[in-house]
Amino acid sequence: MALNVIMMGPPGAGKGTQAERFAHARKLLKISTGDILRECIKLQTPLGLKAKQTIDAGKLVDDATMIGIVRERLFKPDAMNGFVLDGFPRTVAQAEELDGIMVERHKGPLIVVEVVVPEAELIKRLSTRRICSSCGWNADPFDGSAGARCKRCGGEFVQRTDDSVDVVKKRLSIYERETQPLVEYYRKRPTFRTVNGAQPPDVVARELDASIDNAAAMESHL
Ligand code: AP5
Repeated sequence: MALNVIMMGPPGAGKGTQAERFAHARKLLKISTGDILRECIKLQTPLGLKAKQTIDAGKLVDDATMIGIVRERLFKPDAMNGFVLDGFPRTVAQAEELDGIMVERHKGPLIVVEVVVPEAELIKRLSTRRICSSCGWNADPFDGSAGARCKRCGGEFVQRTDDSVDVVKKRLSIYERETQPLVEYYRKRPTFRTVNGAQPPDVVARELDASIDNAAAMESHL
């Protein structure tokens, strides 16, 4: 059965970090809507030009655009063995649309993991985060590499345009209003799990692995 995972959580919870690691370890496709949008901005595509102001202000890109991007991606052949979604869905409308897509795909259920981290820690992580200006890679916050060049491509590390303290606060309040209701949308499902994200990344990863395996095993017995 395909493993279809949604990584949920507020900005800075570590969704991207864990989605990357999990998808790589399980050979699944990772779909990060934030990464897709940042790539469009970098390439100055029509979508990138349209979305830049919205993202820099910490607001959400409209549902129709995001649903269109994810729908197209989820029907490509490399998504059929399973996927890890990072940053989608973010609104109830997106979640409802994703449920419809899952029915159309006939490729197993959704496993939803909420990564929980206290707000003060989120603000600290985001205001100190540095990403590569060239390939988007996150500098490791634990090895001091943020002051050096990117290990992957040699690019320069910079602050994300939406990581200033004011914009982070805006993103957190939008998360609370638009995305937190999704936890209630999913909570009653047998495949919903919560993980404590305020631990070292390796510990979070172990907890996440166990939660996802447990949810997948439960689903296969239903
Ligand atoms: P997106 O890129 O998805 O941003 P986000 O959800 O705000 O999440 P972040 O990337 O900031 O955080 P993360 O949880 O992935 O944490 P990370 O692993 O990087 O979206 C950006 C924008 O695009 C949105 O604001 C919106 O405008 C638009 N958008 C995207 N999807 C959309 C959608 N579906 N609908 C509408 N608009 C959409 O970690 C953060 C930092 O913490 C890093 O430095 C990391 O190294 C560090 N860290 C990670 N884990 C740990 C740990 N356990 N301990 C200590 N530090 C850690």
